[in-house]
Amino acid sequence: MVDVVLGLQWGDEGKGKIVDFLAPNYDIVARFQGGPNAGHTLIFENHKVVLHTIPSGIFRKGIFNFIGSGVVVDPITLKREIKMVKSIMPDAISRLLISNGAHLILPTHRMLDAASEAAKGKKKIGSTLKGIGPTYMDKTGRNGLRVGDISLENFKERYSALRDKHLNLLKLYPKVSFDLEAEEQKWFEAIEEIKKIEVVEGTYYINDALEQGRKVLAEGAQGTMLDIDFGTYPYVTSSNTVTAGCCIGLGISPHQVGEVIGIFKAYVTRVGGGSFPTELFDEQGRFLQEEGHEFGATTGRPRRCGWLDLVQLRYSILINGVTRLALTKIDIFDKLEQITYADKYLIEGQESRHFPFDLDAVDVEPQYEHLVGWQQSLAGSQSYDALPEKAKEYISLIEQKVKVPVQLVSTGAERESLVVR
Ligand code: GDP
Ligand code: IMO
Ligand code: MG
Repeated sequence: MVDVVLGLQWGDEGKGKIVDFLAPNYDIVARFQGGPNAGHTLIFENHKVVLHTIPSGIFRKGIFNFIGSGVVVDPITLKREIKMVKSIMPDAISRLLISNGAHLILPTHRMLDAASEAAKGKKKIGSTLKGIGPTYMDKTGRNGLRVGDISLENFKERYSALRDKHLNLLKLYPKVSFDLEAEEQKWFEAIEEIKKIEVVEGTYYINDALEQGRKVLAEGAQGTMLDIDFGTYPYVTSSNTVTAGCCIGLGISPHQVGEVIGIFKAYVTRVGGGSFPTELFDEQGRFLQEEGHEFGATTGRPRRCGWLDLVQLRYSILINGVTRLALTKIDIFDKLEQITYADKYLIEGQESRHFPFDLDAVDVEPQYEHLVGWQQSLAGSQSYDALPEKAKEYISLIEQKVKVPVQLVSTGAERESLVVR
């Protein structure tokens, strides 16, 4: 059985924290899409770490961590991450496996990412510049290099052919400053590091494990609204971040999917380009940003903030088939006298409960509703019964509005700051 944990908003919902918490209930934690554009923060035993490629179960003893075929891997970032993990838990890397089907991010993919963004000017996506888009383009264009290719005799030639293709393409774009020679050297050194971790035939690895009755937790990256098909296109990432993406990215049947745990923050954040309906441009937005320490875990960019949007949340629940919800960062509301959320929109003067096709093409006015805040500290709470009545009312209200139970309530960044119902 495969349970899935994924983000229901625009990323950074707290997936790393929730996966790290849940991992001991599973045998394998598996990433199925995305790459080092992700930044998943784990806080435990006085450590604060941000994982980009390695699954968030790595610091849990005995749990295997698998990088699936749907992931795009930058050897340079992976090498750095392996070193960081080893410095905290020296033997952890023996529990890390990678699928031979995962595509490789080349240094020139990062160059292309930067050049493509420069060419877009004001309409830029706000990419993390990790080379994600160009790598997935080479995958669908059938040009890519995969982890399993590293052991081929002609790997260097295939690398050079793809690099040269990229260099030709780059002539069409504005020039970007990039020390290709130095990055290539680091890349090939890092490839040697990947050779030291266990490369497996991804599809058989995961399906054999399932046949033996082992439990898998699939860890999503980014969020539903950044999905290439169902997100706020074109301001999205290049992979399928939704539940269906885990079947493709791991090579498992939809029949294997059990619980789908959807994570959402008590408010909404977004980093990069593209608007969102409940975005705040005032003091309240700044309050959420400061109180929530909303700065990107991968790029350090400030995250834009706004109120919880139930139209958007219901849309994400629908696409993912969410069976349980995890609400995070509820503690950021501790000081608020009033809590605000949107339950419907006015689009061109018409009431609507549908998320629009193109946010830039229509005028969306969220219709806000309010609740009285609890105005006391929830930080670190672990018991549902001990939560103030007003916080419980807020949680019940969300459950009524979206018709899915909130099973986990995160009350702080640390591993233990969690209410399990
Ligand atoms: P991810 O990409 O979904 O894993 O999320 P990020 O790690 O990018 O961002 C979430 C941020 O919120 C991190 O800094 C976490 O340490 C922090 N965080 C997670 N859950 C909570 C919570 O319930 N309360 C507070 N205050 N911080 C949290
Ligand atoms: P986690 O897993 C938040 C955003 C970028 C940009 C868009 C495309 O930590 O939640 P890309 O580099 O993928 O081509 O960028 O997607 N983005 C994220 N935003 N959290 C993430 O990951 C993100 N990964 C990509 O900011 O708007
Ligand atoms: Mg993140």
